[in-house]
Amino acid sequence: MIQLLANTRSKEYPVFLSRGGLADAGRLWSSLGKRGKVVIITDANVAGFHLAAAEASFAAAGLETSTIVVDPGEGAKSLEMVTGLYSRLFVLKTRRRDAVCALGGGVVGDLAGFVASTYMRGIGLMQVPTSLLSQVDSSIGGKTGVNIPEAKNYVGSFYQPDMVLADPALLKTLPRDQLVEGLAEVVKYCLLTGDAFFDNFEIGNQEFLALNTAYVEPVVRRCIEYKLRIVSEDERDYGRRAVLNLGHSVGHGIEVAGGYQRYSHGQAVALGLLAAVRLSQQEFGLPEEYGDRLLSLLELLGLPVRIEGIDPGEVLAAMASDKKADDLSANMVLLKRLGEPVINCDVDAGALRREVERLVAGG
Ligand code: GLY
Repeated sequence: MIQLLANTRSKEYPVFLSRGGLADAGRLWSSLGKRGKVVIITDANVAGFHLAAAEASFAAAGLETSTIVVDPGEGAKSLEMVTGLYSRLFVLKTRRRDAVCALGGGVVGDLAGFVASTYMRGIGLMQVPTSLLSQVDSSIGGKTGVNIPEAKNYVGSFYQPDMVLADPALLKTLPRDQLVEGLAEVVKYCLLTGDAFFDNFEIGNQEFLALNTAYVEPVVRRCIEYKLRIVSEDERDYGRRAVLNLGHSVGHGIEVAGGYQRYSHGQAVALGLLAAVRLSQQEFGLPEEYGDRLLSLLELLGLPVRIEGIDPGEVLAAMASDKKADDLSANMVLLKRLGEPVINCDVDAGALRREVERLVAGG
């Protein structure tokens, strides 16, 4: 088992990376001195695979446990759901000393994290991410939130968990498309981290797809370590943390323009990474080879490299209304070199349009 430390301004907490670690969740939680009740919040898909093991683990540690199962999918990230969960926690007599265990992917982590951060002004929180995206990214760093009808993730909080337990063995039950989706974030970390990690993943990516644990664990670890470093520097996303949005400006525009149906978050990020790398070539002279190498890597992983069925103008319009874009061109993350991201890049609007058009045309 690998134990990492999240060291943020508001809280220090352990991040365990452990194959088969779910069976150990109760013991690890107790070892932090936690004795209160644990309310597991999970979704129906994850429950079918992993709930029994989680409940058994908490029971073995002598912890009282209750479970709330929500519908799978982004629709659960609503304020109506939050209100319903507060009532369920109330009926379960959940008190300040108790905790929520978010057992699931990004949706469950964001939703359960937000509920834990606001119920009784904040109760304990354990993140047990079961998807690749949540293991390498969303369960770390304390961002929680839900959607409003007008926009995604517009209501939320920064609320660090007391513990994160990432168990790579759980990835084996992930549908292939969700695994591939998470790989877009892994590729993001490859670009952010630098040449050695990128080279390594270029060679070993099929090992990852095959979930060869000897390969998967070090890769997940590198991603988590990078994110922990960034979050420790800028917990509240005032500056440096924005590097984690590499690929997300164009990606968000694609997601919105596709009505959140045509492209998943990971697929949109993959396309956004391609645009960001190509713009980095123009703005900072990032060597041309990286655009080609990234394109090949995304293809090997089964991620899209071209936008279909969406007009470039719709992508640009959606980017303009992104909450993260104070003004359209001044908020992109680009790369001076691999491993050297630059935030708030003032990208020329014409260059941005050309790259989005290029993604639509393919090539
Ligand atoms: N996923 C981006 C962040 O946590 O800041």
